[in-house]
Amino acid sequence: MPAMMMDTVDGSFAVETSGLVRRFGAMTAVDGLDLRVARGTFFGFLGPNGAGKSTTLKMLTGLLTPTAGTAKILGHDVVREPVEVKRRIGVVPEELALFDRLTGGEYLEFVGRMYGMPLSTVRQRSGELLDLLGLGGESSKLLVDYSHGMQKKVALAAALIHDPDVLFLDEPFEGIDAIAARLVKTILARLLERGVTIFLTSHILEIVERLCAHVAIIHQGKLIASGTMDELRHGVPSGAGSRMTLEDLFVSLVGNPDESTGALSWLE
Ligand SMILES: Nc1ncnc2c1ncn2[C@@H]1O[C@H](COP(=O)(O)OP(=O)(O)OP(=O)(O)O)[C@@H](O)[C@H]1O
Ligand SMILES: [Mg+2]
Repeated sequence: MPAMMMDTVDGSFAVETSGLVRRFGAMTAVDGLDLRVARGTFFGFLGPNGAGKSTTLKMLTGLLTPTAGTAKILGHDVVREPVEVKRRIGVVPEELALFDRLTGGEYLEFVGRMYGMPLSTVRQRSGELLDLLGLGGESSKLLVDYSHGMQKKVALAAALIHDPDVLFLDEPFEGIDAIAARLVKTILARLLERGVTIFLTSHILEIVERLCAHVAIIHQGKLIASGTMDELRHGVPSGAGSRMTLEDLFVSLVGNPDESTGALSWLE
C-alpha cells in the first residue's frame, strides 16, 4: 500500500496553514494566511502579480522560512520536520534552479539519488520521463543549452521522479508549448487518480477552471476567496455569479476599478 494511503487515517490535510506570515523588511508579502487543502485535491492558488503566491509556495516547500504562523504538509510541520516534508513533496518552483553543467539525464539521476532511490529505479524513471516529455533525444545536451520550455519540462520530471504525495507547481504552463501543456495536463490527471494532491499557481484561468476542483484567491497577501467554482459563484451578489467564468470572478474580486478604463493619455 502506498505510504500516502496508509497515513490518511490520521486525518491531516495535505496542506494546512495557520496565521502564516512572511515579511520582507517592512513589507508583508503573506499576511496571516489560513489554508486547508484536503488530500487528493487539485487545488488552484490564484492571485494577481505580487499577491504572495510564490512566497506562500516557497514557505510550504521549505525554500523560505515563515516570519510567523505555521504550515503543515500531510501533518508534518515545514519548519520542525523539513526532511519528512521534502521526502513527501515534489516542487516546480518559480525560478528554476537546475545545474547548468549537467545533461537532463544526469540531473534526474542526481535528484533521484538525493532521494535515496536505487540507481536502477532512477535510471528507469528518468528515461521514461525524458521520453514522455520529448527530451529523450537530447541526452548529450547540457541544461544550460536547453530552451526555457525544455528546462521547465526537466524541472517537472525532477519533481516527479520520487513519486511524491503532494506536488507544488508554480506556473507550470508558463513557457511550454501547447503540446507539452496538454501532456502535462494528462500527467497531472493521472497523478490525481493515484491520490496525489496538486497545488498549482497559474495565471491561465481557463486551465485552472477546467482542472482545479478547489480554488483560492489571494490579494495583497490575504485570502479573499476560497472554495469550489460553484461556491465562488454563489459568493457573487445579484445572481449574476451563476454565469461567471473564473476570469470574470477573478477580475470582479481583485480588479481595481480605477484601472478598468485602461486610460493612457497618449492613446486618447
Ligand atoms: N526576496 C524578496 N525580497 C523582497 N521582497 C520580495 C521578495 N520576494 C517577494 N517579495 C515581494 O513579495 C510580494 C509577493 O511576491 P510573490 O513573488 O509571492 O508574488 P506572486 O503572487 O507570486 O506574483 P506573480 O504572479 O507575479 O508571480 C511582492 O511585492 C514581491 O515584491
Ligand atoms: Mg509568483
